[in-house]
Amino acid sequence: MVDIQDLVDVKRGLVSRELFVNEELYEQELEKIFAKSWCFLAHESQLPNPGDFVAAYIGEDPVLVVRDSRGKINAFLNTCRHRGMRVCRADAGNAAAFTCTYHGWTYGNDGKLVGVPGYKEYYYEELDMEQWGLVSVAQVDSYKGMIFGCFDPSAPALPEYLGDMTWFLDYLMDRSEGGVEVVGGVFKWEMPCNWKFAADNFVGDSYHFPITHISALKTGFNSQSIIRNPTRSLQISHPGGHGVISQRGPLNIENRFPAEGWPEINAYYQQMLPERAKRLGDKADTLDWTVGTIFPNLSFESFTFRVWHPRGPQKIEVWSWCFVDKAAPPEAKRAMHLFHQRRFSSSGTLEQDDGENWNMTTSSSNGRVARRHPFNYQLQLGYERYDENVPGVIADGPSEHSARGFYRRWLELMSAGESADIRR
Ligand code: FES
Ligand SMILES: [Fe+2]
Repeated sequence: MVDIQDLVDVKRGLVSRELFVNEELYEQELEKIFAKSWCFLAHESQLPNPGDFVAAYIGEDPVLVVRDSRGKINAFLNTCRHRGMRVCRADAGNAAAFTCTYHGWTYGNDGKLVGVPGYKEYYYEELDMEQWGLVSVAQVDSYKGMIFGCFDPSAPALPEYLGDMTWFLDYLMDRSEGGVEVVGGVFKWEMPCNWKFAADNFVGDSYHFPITHISALKTGFNSQSIIRNPTRSLQISHPGGHGVISQRGPLNIENRFPAEGWPEINAYYQQMLPERAKRLGDKADTLDWTVGTIFPNLSFESFTFRVWHPRGPQKIEVWSWCFVDKAAPPEAKRAMHLFHQRRFSSSGTLEQDDGENWNMTTSSSNGRVARRHPFNYQLQLGYERYDENVPGVIADGPSEHSARGFYRRWLELMSAGESADIRR
């Protein structure tokens, strides 16, 4: 047995490899982290009309997100109350009701049980239909179009959970009239790695960028801004385990989207700068760009947000969305989608670089001897500070303090409740 408190030592910057490979820890994570946290479900632009639905997950629990006939967005466990069949087997669509394909129980798009075969003949009208509707996700709320759900009815409300991360979501999602919309559906793929490696990489690891992505940088495939401006880079950590990788502004359009390579994006950004400045106010020029993770498993980058769905301690299912400004012209939207796909999709250059790391850090930590040796999270330990221009605790240049914050939050949640021990 090992005490869970021994697995994460934030003060010394040490994190046990057990977090990334241990089956029992993983089972506890599903209970203590995923069933307690606000998890990202979908974007409102995927559900514009009454009856629209999309599939989602919270941890390993399948969830159905649906805009009911009165326009309200609800989320339910996507499993039949009778014998557990997946009530809705499609990824997305529009429906007034969902009929289970096993024995035919039918649920309205508000989750109520509205039809049961044999209700009169074999249940003798004694089945209490009111009691057997779909199980609701206890809390559902959205911020700037991003829909989140939480199974814990006593969890703090979404704005409190997000805290200062709303500052960064505004920066990404509210820079032009109408906000953003999802284009091109949802990319989904599996990877043999622990979900925290991916969340950790986005929460605050700019350290890897010039090494892991050196081929993309050397070939000119990706902007070299991080290399050229090391003093502008900063990491920002937030209570709640969230974190952001960023670079001090102002936005350098020519560097990010050179007119030579990306004329449509370049032209769009040039023309929307005044509106962006009006909407974002002081923060418009504060940062150049942002990457981040909202605890536990939602990460974002320029034109993408993605969820690292856990599928066991050593496997994830990635769901990746591309988002663009709704007000952008079609040619700019197409270019942004292409920009995203070339970098961050299952075949994206940067995605594949990152995936290699996460897959091998997981497999090489699985051995019984390797597990005895913790990871080093000591980069800039003790050099964090506050900055008057940006909310959160910052460090200039690469730092692992956001990752330390992520694992501090992990430890808080995993230590809560009765059982804190795991078996090795
Ligand atoms: S499992 Fe759905 S009706 Fe039986
Ligand atoms: Fe990366």
